[in-house]
Amino acid sequence: MSGRTRRAGLLAACSLVLAAGTLTGCGSDDSASSSADPELEVTGAYMPAPSMDTMAAGFFTVTNSGGADTLTSVTSDLSDDVTMHATVDGAMREEKSFAVPARGTLDLASGGSHLMFEKLTHKPGQGEKVSVELHFAKSGTVRISMPVKPATYNPKTGR
Ligand code: CU
Repeated sequence: MSGRTRRAGLLAACSLVLAAGTLTGCGSDDSASSSADPELEVTGAYMPAPSMDTMAAGFFTVTNSGGADTLTSVTSDLSDDVTMHATVDGAMREEKSFAVPARGTLDLASGGSHLMFEKLTHKPGQGEKVSVELHFAKSGTVRISMPVKPATYNPKTGR
């Protein structure tokens, strides 16, 4: 469980907001400012076939037609250690969460934000489907099936 680290991240974010001089957005899940329920759809999930059983990446798109939500953690049978990474100036950085904007998208794509699966239970082969649970702050758990694609697979999203 990563509840403790998640809370720490939330507190850190709140401190930043307070330092900036506003009081909005801290621990007010059911306040009027965020009343619209998120409506999430997850598409385009895939995992490039990893060459080793130590590490694999995962990608998908969340399309939200409702209010804002947050991806707070990810779990999978494939790994007890799934983290969220952003890519900043070509370097990976672990994130505590990913924001899903209201009426917007959260895009994980090659060269950008991604999931990182470490210490894999086995090396997944091409054609396999990896079961992944996405845990959102408001929408709860969304279970997806992430197909394993060739290592070089790199879809054009059209964005
Ligand atoms: Cu990474």
